[in-house]
Amino acid sequence: MSTTDRQAHWENVYTTKGETEVSWFQETPAPSLELIALVGASRQSAIIDIGAGASRLVDHLVSEGYEDLTVLDLSAAALAAAKARIGEKARHVHWLAADATTWGPSRTYDVWHDRAAFHFLTGSADQAAYVARLHRALRRGGHVIVGAFALDGPEKCSGLPVARHDAESLGRAFGAEFVLIDTRRDEHPTPWGATQRFQFSTFRRGA
Ligand SMILES: C[S@@+](CC[C@H](N)C(=O)[O-])C[C@H]1O[C@@H](n2cnc3c(N)ncnc32)[C@H](O)[C@@H]1O
Repeated sequence: MSTTDRQAHWENVYTTKGETEVSWFQETPAPSLELIALVGASRQSAIIDIGAGASRLVDHLVSEGYEDLTVLDLSAAALAAAKARIGEKARHVHWLAADATTWGPSRTYDVWHDRAAFHFLTGSADQAAYVARLHRALRRGGHVIVGAFALDGPEKCSGLPVARHDAESLGRAFGAEFVLIDTRRDEHPTPWGATQRFQFSTFRRGA
């Protein structure tokens, strides 16, 4: 899928559906918050949320006092919704409308978080392009946290095919310098009461 097609898909989603009309909505992104704490992120750590959409993760991190937050998504409408929701505090957040497979990072981060964006990359070229950005943007000793549909999770999300993952497939994609420090399953309840099986894997990049 080209950047233009992806962007059109996601702009359409975020301009036609309300926050609780999408399967991935979470009032409180508990696994992500637990894992950001687990990796020992400090309030000064640089944290980027890749494919953040209109997620409430940024709201929680801002209110917990994290000071160096970046939110990246293909959809400007999703970013606008999150910005409007958090109001005045949005000016403390860096907002990037970009495709994670073509973006040119201009700085480094301590924590790279992704819930349900990497799994849309089903081809090896797109996955490699994403991983090249991860290698450029994550400092050595930093952590990557990726939530994706588990191997027994759904085959599609938002009408698009996904690549399901476990810690091994993510580790292979990221490279040998990424050391697995935690992997866990998460049963996500959708707003309409279905269950989606996710896995979250966390790696530390070797120094
Ligand atoms: C299923 S939603 C998950 C949103 C958010 N992470 C959450 O947990 O609520 C997937 C998000 O990934 C974004 N996305 C998909 N492909 C992307 C890409 N190549 N680069 C940046 N964002 C992407 C979409 O715009 C969408 O907001």
